[in-house]
Amino acid sequence: MRTVEWHEGRVRLIDQRLLPSEFRVVELTEVEAVARAIREMVVRGAPAIGATAGFGMALAALRSPARDREGVLRDLERAAEILRAARPTAVNLAWAVERVLRRVAEERDPGRMREAALEEAQAIADEDVAVNRRMGEIGASVVPDGATILHHCNTGALATVDYGTALGVIRAAHEQGKRVHVLVDETRPRLQGARLTAWELQRLGIPFTLIADNAAGHFMRTGQADLVLVGADRIAANGDVANKIGTYKLAVVAKENGIPFYVVAPTSTVDLSLSTGEEIPIEERPPEEVTALTLMGKPVAPEGVPVANPAFDVTPHRYVTGIVTERGIAYPPFHLTLPPLVEGGTE
Ligand code: MRU
Repeated sequence: MRTVEWHEGRVRLIDQRLLPSEFRVVELTEVEAVARAIREMVVRGAPAIGATAGFGMALAALRSPARDREGVLRDLERAAEILRAARPTAVNLAWAVERVLRRVAEERDPGRMREAALEEAQAIADEDVAVNRRMGEIGASVVPDGATILHHCNTGALATVDYGTALGVIRAAHEQGKRVHVLVDETRPRLQGARLTAWELQRLGIPFTLIADNAAGHFMRTGQADLVLVGADRIAANGDVANKIGTYKLAVVAKENGIPFYVVAPTSTVDLSLSTGEEIPIEERPPEEVTALTLMGKPVAPEGVPVANPAFDVTPHRYVTGIVTERGIAYPPFHLTLPPLVEGGTE
């Protein structure tokens, strides 16, 4: 099944908190429950939360008791606010919400407005799969045969509606018959690499080795990584990239060692309204994500310790070799190459 889908009037999600131990599917019928699922990371990954928010808007439209156009729009504005507040960094969430709102506002009849909301949400989900496959094809060109690829967090089918962004590129290279090996960063504190990327790669039969986050620098300095591939949650107009915490450190060490560092993201992740990454809001998550981890069945930190837990960091554009999108690869200077790619759709 897809990571996110519409099923008989409900939003159906794979509960990613339980993987790899348990594969459980949840079905949601209220926009508040959809926002909670995003906040609590039942579903995560920028494109996946975008598609989920789109379906959340469809739920709100279908459940709105309003009889006239203004009433439906009011209910949708309220739903939009609830969804936008769920997680702040990935711009795909706000992008999908706006897209449904804009489409619904084109209609006059409340019945048509409800249908249009679901049609648009479904289009967002379907396009995401097509976009990922296209990025896979385009991005595979930067993967040499025999490459060892360092990868952070989870950017696979689970982070999208299906197929994946950076992991989609790895998957496409593998499907083309290239021999690839993935170094999977475990990605503390929520371990998306160890739990989700390792699970996906195992099922796809793509060779990989799981490493502790702290080992990545060692592998790069000793010539055991040829390429770094990551996803993104928001990219500013100058090419600064917000992605899972720890990405910045990888980019700096990659540059120091002359290793190409590519970001793979759909154009819906690029926020041209922000001129630099300084303006990207960074989500701070609960301290328990850091302290409640257990080792040998025991908590890893004393009770009540002060914790800082930013979920994302910003990698300045000077560390980025290229940005792979569904419309082609942008290369530096990104402030000149990225906007036309996003606005014009040229390759
Ligand atoms: O906190 P998460 O798990 O939602 O963070 C996910 C990431 O940082 C991914 O790298 C990013 O969303 C791109 S995934 C296609």
